[in-house]
Amino acid sequence: MGPIKRGALIVFEGCDRSGKSTQSRRLAELLKSRGIPTESLNFPDRSTDIGQVINSYLTNSKDLQDEVIHLLFSVNRWELMGKLRQKLLAGTTLIVDRYSYSGVAYSVAKGMDFDWCYAPERGLIKPDAVFYLRAVPDRLAERSEFGEERYEKVEFQSRVSAVYDRIFSNESTYWHQLDASVTADELHFLIAEIAEKLLPKVTTQPLDKLS
Ligand code: TYD
Ligand code: MG
Repeated sequence: MGPIKRGALIVFEGCDRSGKSTQSRRLAELLKSRGIPTESLNFPDRSTDIGQVINSYLTNSKDLQDEVIHLLFSVNRWELMGKLRQKLLAGTTLIVDRYSYSGVAYSVAKGMDFDWCYAPERGLIKPDAVFYLRAVPDRLAERSEFGEERYEKVEFQSRVSAVYDRIFSNESTYWHQLDASVTADELHFLIAEIAEKLLPKVTTQPLDKLS
């Protein structure tokens, strides 16, 4: 018997209401149905002590300096890295709704420096693939529940979108940009096709770090 193959780290990114939750759920269901050990999680993880502070900030019940909330989002990823690494090495594929790129995109959209924002993310486990659901922010506003939380304003989401485009141009080797305006079924089909090709390839490769 050979060594246990590791799981893949698959991340979904995009503006609020771009369909990440639906698509990450559907991909997880598909992989599980194929007998691939799979777990889903999302950032921010609002269940930790730090996650609760982040939640208060996002629901507008607490104000924090831009630098402070930025670093808290990053710490919220760092505090879970041990657990994520363990799961990946034990062979579980992780489907993650938002990761470091959300951290950079939302903070840079406020006017913060790109490199400063990226710095605390270096060293975190590097995803094997990122599905970037690219949407026109005007269209997102038509979707239900948009506008309830701090960042859910069309103008702000346009700036977030521009930062995602910039990240995509840097990270295009493992980012897959998909048009979020097609139907959920079409999107799922495209994502499934890419994921199924990717999994057997990455699971024999060592885990990498964001640099
Ligand atoms: P979101 O995915 O919308 O959470 P939920 O599905 O629980 O509503 O994430 C909450 C917000 O946090 C979203 O507007 C993006 C923002 N965010 C950051 O600003 N920085 C980060 O590092 C992360 C992970 C999210
Ligand atoms: Mg949201």
